[in-house]
Amino acid sequence: MRRPVIAGNWKMYKTANETRAFFRAFLSEVSRPTHCDILVAPPFPALPVAVECTRDFGIGIAAQNLYWEPEGAFTGEVSARMLVDAGCRAVIVGHSERRQFFGETDESVERKTKAALDSGLTPIVCVGELLSERESHLTEAVLKGQFEGGLAALTPAEFSRILIAYEPVWAIGTGRTATPEIAAEAHRYIRSLAAARFTSEHASALRILYGGSVKPENIKGLMLQKEIDGALVGGASLEPKSFAAIVNNW
Ligand code: 13P
Repeated sequence: MRRPVIAGNWKMYKTANETRAFFRAFLSEVSRPTHCDILVAPPFPALPVAVECTRDFGIGIAAQNLYWEPEGAFTGEVSARMLVDAGCRAVIVGHSERRQFFGETDESVERKTKAALDSGLTPIVCVGELLSERESHLTEAVLKGQFEGGLAALTPAEFSRILIAYEPVWAIGTGRTATPEIAAEAHRYIRSLAAARFTSEHASALRILYGGSVKPENIKGLMLQKEIDGALVGGASLEPKSFAAIVNNW
């Protein structure tokens, strides 16, 4: 049985004070959850407050990015060691917005994933195709390229510690969710890549989250698919009631 994960990616939203207000409201909506793992990824400056607010509630705090060097003259970057020191448990790697706007590549995804693992963080590695790629029947080729370019160099032991998020770019922030069947089909394909590169045990233990316009209204349909092991939620994780409804309805 794979334990579900519900993760919130706040992107570039919320100050430290807004983070405190969010958790005050959110924690009154969710009883200490035992049915799933909860992760929240605020922007860097809000990480310490988020860690402080969630310490006694079994909620993990994640960063949205990292750099692979432990320290050095890399202006504007943050290392895995610094994230661990700030209290993070996990980190998002290779989000499509980083690929699209900040030049992230499969190679940087691989280096960041390794650096996160070496520091004891759980990487949440994002993959997913553009609308034009889906329409050109390239979804599987894109997923294969991202998997092989970003993850194939991991050792089996390292691979067993990562989460993958399937986030079709056309479903992010558009209100256009992949149907549960479309998402499940992509998850099945990613799992087959894991089985081919690692072992069928690694594939069946791998937790794959779906991301892209997840809301309280569509979470039930997604969770009914046994291939879908949770969600990476953007917009709907910013509002305490809607994120709590997603957690409570899984
Ligand atoms: P939305 O839920 O706002 O579509 O964002 C998804 C996402 O990018 C999560 O990482």
